[in-house]
Amino acid sequence: MELMEVIRHRRAVRDFTETRLERSTVQSLIDTAILAPSAMNLQPWAFAVLLDPQRIARYATRARTWLLENFSQTSHDPSLRKVLEDPKHVLFYHAPALVLVLATSSDAQAKEDCCLAAENFMLAARAQGLGTCWIGLARPWLNLPSIKTELKIPENSHVVAPIVLGHPKAWPESHGRNAATIYWLG
Ligand SMILES: Cc1cc2nc3c(=O)[nH]c(=O)nc-3n(C[C@H](O)[C@H](O)[C@H](O)COP(=O)(O)O)c2cc1C
Repeated sequence: MELMEVIRHRRAVRDFTETRLERSTVQSLIDTAILAPSAMNLQPWAFAVLLDPQRIARYATRARTWLLENFSQTSHDPSLRKVLEDPKHVLFYHAPALVLVLATSSDAQAKEDCCLAAENFMLAARAQGLGTCWIGLARPWLNLPSIKTELKIPENSHVVAPIVLGHPKAWPESHGRNAATIYWLG
């Protein structure tokens, strides 16, 4: 696919087949992710990859329970609470893979750099026919010190982008976009 086509056809995918992913596939997506620009080329990122759907499903349940119990600490948005309260909601959508983009420093722009790497990752996945969805809801749980220890994520790293990955059952329709507000300054 051409770049513009990839950008236009990327979608947040929330329904995956059971097909497992190979390490080599994820490795190649990460190789593309890290071509993203970063402030002063510091490349303040690392990646944690989980390719075990059962573990991912268990984490989804634990994270949802914790998020509901601690909702007021993490969000004030009632619509997010509604999403979590829906008994059918599965945080990681039964995805066969979960990739966490980690900021490895507290440099002022490390999180921006990680977002760029995350977007590269999602576009590279789309180009290979794979679906992704950034699961921002999971971030507070993933950043708990006890969970980072359990996942063997270094304590000074910060989870910026939790991304589920897999073969889509179907490509969702676009939600469309509002027209961009543009201030033409000259
Ligand atoms: C920072 C960020 C956080 C997101 N968090 C979630 C989430 O927790 N759960 C979810 O289902 N989708 C999440 N999404 C996906 C968005 O809902 C989705 O990208 C948006 O609705 C636009 O749809 P599209 O990606 O198909 O164009 C998130 C996306 C971004 C960029």
